[in-house]
This record gives sequence, C-alpha cells and structure tokens, in this order.
Amino acid sequence: MCGIVGYTGTQEAAPILLEGLKKLEYRGYDSAGIAVLNDNLLAVSKVTGRIANLCEKTADGKNCPGTVGIGHTRWATHGAPTDTNAHPHMSNDGKFAVVHNGIIENYIALREELIQKGYHFDSETDTEVIVHLIEMYYTGDLKKAVIRMSARLCGSYALGVVCTDEPEKVYVVREASPLIIGVGVGENYFASDVTALVSYTRNAIYLDDGEFAEITPETIVVFNPAGHPIIKKISRITWDVQSAEKGGYEHFMLKEIVEQPRAIKAAIAPRIKNGDIALDEAELTTEYLESVNKIVITACGSAYYAGCAGKYAMEKLCRIPVQVELASELRYNDPLIDEHTLLIVLSQSGETADTIAAMKECKKRGAKTLAVVNVVGSTIANTADYTLYTWAGPEIAVATTKGYTTQVSVLYMFALYVAKKMNRIDKEHYEKLLKILSTLPKKVQETLDMNSAIPALAKKYHNADSMFFIGRNTDYAVALEGALKMKEISYIHAESYAAGELKHGTIALIEDHQPVIALCCNESIMEKTMSNIVEVKARGAEVLAVTFKDNQKMVPLADDMIFIPKMDAIFAAAVEIVPLQLLAYYVAKENGCDIDKPKNLAKSVTVE
Ligand code: G6P
Repeated sequence: MCGIVGYTGTQEAAPILLEGLKKLEYRGYDSAGIAVLNDNLLAVSKVTGRIANLCEKTADGKNCPGTVGIGHTRWATHGAPTDTNAHPHMSNDGKFAVVHNGIIENYIALREELIQKGYHFDSETDTEVIVHLIEMYYTGDLKKAVIRMSARLCGSYALGVVCTDEPEKVYVVREASPLIIGVGVGENYFASDVTALVSYTRNAIYLDDGEFAEITPETIVVFNPAGHPIIKKISRITWDVQSAEKGGYEHFMLKEIVEQPRAIKAAIAPRIKNGDIALDEAELTTEYLESVNKIVITACGSAYYAGCAGKYAMEKLCRIPVQVELASELRYNDPLIDEHTLLIVLSQSGETADTIAAMKECKKRGAKTLAVVNVVGSTIANTADYTLYTWAGPEIAVATTKGYTTQVSVLYMFALYVAKKMNRIDKEHYEKLLKILSTLPKKVQETLDMNSAIPALAKKYHNADSMFFIGRNTDYAVALEGALKMKEISYIHAESYAAGELKHGTIALIEDHQPVIALCCNESIMEKTMSNIVEVKARGAEVLAVTFKDNQKMVPLADDMIFIPKMDAIFAAAVEIVPLQLLAYYVAKENGCDIDKPKNLAKSVTVE
C-alpha cells in the first residue's frame, strides 16, 4: 500500500527521495514525508496530500541538505491522513527515524508497554511503536536494536531506519512486504518496488521475509533474522525508465491501455516455439495433470475477474472443473484442497496480502501452486512452485488494464497447453486455437483503432448515476471487469449482472434513460442476450452494446455500439474488455476524476 524509499551516498538525498516517491505515489497518496540526516541531526518534512506538496514544502528537496535519508508515501490504515500521522516517525530522543509499509498487528499491546515505560506518542499510527522500540533497545549498536525490535513485531513490514549516531547507515527490514535494495557505485538505495530504482541502477537485491540489511554508500550486508550475514544474488532489473513514465500520454492508464498489444505479445509470443506452446517455467508432467481433479484459481480485484474469464477456456478445453475463489474468502474457508488440486494464483503485483495468505493456506494443504504474476521477484512469484510471468512491464495506474489482459492471455495459453498435454484436444483444433491466441495482440490493436467514437459516447453517458453491465458466459466475465473499471475510476455506481439473472431482481431498477452496457461477443449465446436487451429497452433503458464490428443484428436494438473485431468467444475476453477500459477512462475524464490515482484506492494492497 504505502511506498518507501531510501538513499545513502554522496549526492543530496532529498531530491532522490522525492523522485523515488513520485514513482511510488500509486501505492498510496494521502500524505508523505522524508527524513534527511545532516551534521548528525535529522530533519523531517511531512505533508498531507500528494508528493507535489512535499516538493513544494521542501523546495524540491533544497531545504533538506544531507546525503542520507528515507522517505514515505502513505495510504492511511491507522489514523487519518494528517501531517502528524505521516511518516517518517521519530524517536523521543530525536536520534531515530523510521518509514514503514505494512501493518503491525500487535501495536496496541506494544504501545501500552512503551507508554508505561515513559515513551510518548505523537501519532495514532501502528508504526510509531517501531521507532520507540528501537530507541528502547539501542545501546550503541543499531544492528542489535533492529534485531530486538523486529523480534517484538507481529504483522507485515518493510522498514527503513536511520540513526544520528551511525550517520552513513540505513537499515532495512522485510517481513511480508516488498523491499528491494538498489545497488549503486559509491551509493546505494532501497525502495518498495523497482520503479523507484530504475532511474539510478539496474542492479537489485530482493530481500526475503525475515531478512534485514545494513546499507552504507560502499557496502550492503544482508542478514538472516538471527543476525548472521548471508550471501544474496544481485538481480538485473529489466524494466526500462521510459516504461515507468507517461511518455506523452495524459495519464498512465491511457498509456497502459494503448500498450496492450505489445504487452500481450510479450506474454505469449516467446512461449510459442515451433508451432507449439513451451512453458519452460511450468513444465507440468502429463502424469501430474492426470492426478489433478480440480483447478482452483484465486486472486483479488481485477485479477479475480481475470480468473473468471480464464475459467471458461480452461473448462472447455481441459475438461477439468475450475473454481474461481476470492483470496480474501478462500483463506478463511477451510478450503477443500489437497494434493489433487492445482492452485493458480493471479496477481499483477505479486504482493497482495490476501492472495499470499490464500496461496500459503492451499500449499499447506498439499496443492501445487502456479503463479501468474507481473512483478519479477515478488513474494507470490517466489513462493509458488511454478511462476509464469506476464511480462506486461510496469503498470502504474491504480486501475489495472494491461495487467488484466496479460493475465487472461496467459490463462488462455495455459488452458491450451494443458488440453494438449492431457490429450483433450485434437491436433487440428489445437492448431486453430493457437493461431487465434497468437493473433490476440493484433485483435487488441484493431479494437483500439476502431473505437474512435468512445470519447463522444463518454460525453453522452458520463452524467449517469449508475450503469448496469450485462452479458452471458464469457461476456458475463468481461461485464464483471467492465463494471469494476467504471466504478473505480469514474465513481459511477456500476453493477455487473449475468443477463439471465436480470429478471430475478435488477430489472426492477430499469427505468427511462438507465444506461445498460450489453456485452454481445459470444455468438453461441448472443440471441439470448439480445432478448434481454429487448426487455430492458421496453422499460426505457439506453443500451450501449459491445459487439462485433458490423454486427447488423444489433443495429435495430442498441442505442449505441462499441466494437471488437469478429473472433471466437473462447479467447475474446482479452479483447472485449478493451473498449470498456476506454469507456471508463473517457467517462472519468469527462467527470474530472483523478484517473491514475482514484480516491481511497491503492495499486498494491499489501494489508488485509
Ligand atoms: C488492487 C488494484 C487492482 C488489482 C487488485 C489485485 O485493488 O487496484 O487493480 O486488480 O489490487 O492486485 P494484484 O496485484 O494482486 O493483481
């Protein structure tokens, strides 16, 4: 949720921290702060609101001289977004400052203990206990204090700590929250994700749970929880600087929508070799697949809806039952999962707390786990038995677009791969579907090209109080994600309904001019949805149909149409969602919404 950064070197730290925070702002953006060490004194600046306010307050960092520092951008959990609750938090003696991403679950007991010992608290945050614990345990050795402090914490945390007595050092600690060290020359960095590091270095060390590190300008020493130094591999960051920047687009979201043909190509093309699918990272044996009696897909948010879209292809092609479960539910459901279950975990960030917990629960019960993840080296990628990266590149807009379509595309590919391995598909059909799969990037490009009318349609629909998204089968899966896109960025109430369910309740809400977005891209069931369109039209609805270009059948029914190229429904969701992303984007733009950073949301939900 929150973003943290740190620097130790010979350059001025504050501008580097502010630049890093700007890149991390999508993780949380209600308040922000930095602490910089100068002449053995800590200068702390904090603001409510965006990083831009912090830049203003510090004159782009010029008011905070010093070459060592830490920074934070917050998504409030404990305590309102105020200057006082913003990080960094300071110890009572002014020697220590801490930034924290995560949640300290036992903070109430620790707070009481510390108050009894005479420490006073300025903020309402859970984080503040950390800095007082460090002060309490510090006897001239920060490493020892960090070990003792960490041993007292329950919960999730990525921490950055600085101390006036050890002025060149930054300590970082990781437990169930992402933390990456950027390796430089004569200077080093840390951050919650690589987007904050790529402008400075391509060499990174990914900390694992329980590990901590002492970073100076010249050295990085990583320790296990007992404090013994360990050797860590330096990984190469492959994301480039441009892909984490807007590149001339008004919003990251639009840029990421437009990037989808390239992203989907990167996800599927390298895995098609000699006319066949080669999943080198997830070589599942036929024998193992024969032992699987069900596939469970788990995820949160749009990733969950990507699972809903993938389920149709998977069941149809592999003839294995597929259940799609919300991770936040699955983790507490005492799930019926054993060694005959293949668990597929979907996550763009690879850090979603509920998804990680659900995965661990299912692993414990014997399931093999396959992760479909975008962020390299993330917790989910590292914990799963197999990982298929989606290779979408950095996704910065909070509302996912290319993250979703690449997840769906990888699921399609996996479905086809399993169907072949298990001999559930004949050669001709396999080749036909593989061809369709390889044309997904082209179909998405065509969809982008054929929908230039969407900004005008947004002008017509943007004043709606609510919208209904209806569809059947694969169209219904897309309706789920389409409605979510609309509500998260435009704040218009949007509900998705299986079209066949309308008569069981929702139709009572249809009255004059109620917008209904009807998804009709699945020919096998299109006539049925068309009947539902007639029903809502009879009650005054304004129908915007998503259908094939030149679908003449739809012309007399719908008030407006948006298009995808004609294609087999089995792999259509990755294409069909695209005009709905654009519609949500332009409606939100009409309504003057903060598209890349919708209110109350964060990109990476690392708390429960
Ligand atoms: C947040 C994001 C969504 C995302 C969901 C799951 O809610 O705003 O876009 O779908 O988390 O995130 P993940 O990183 O696990 O895919």
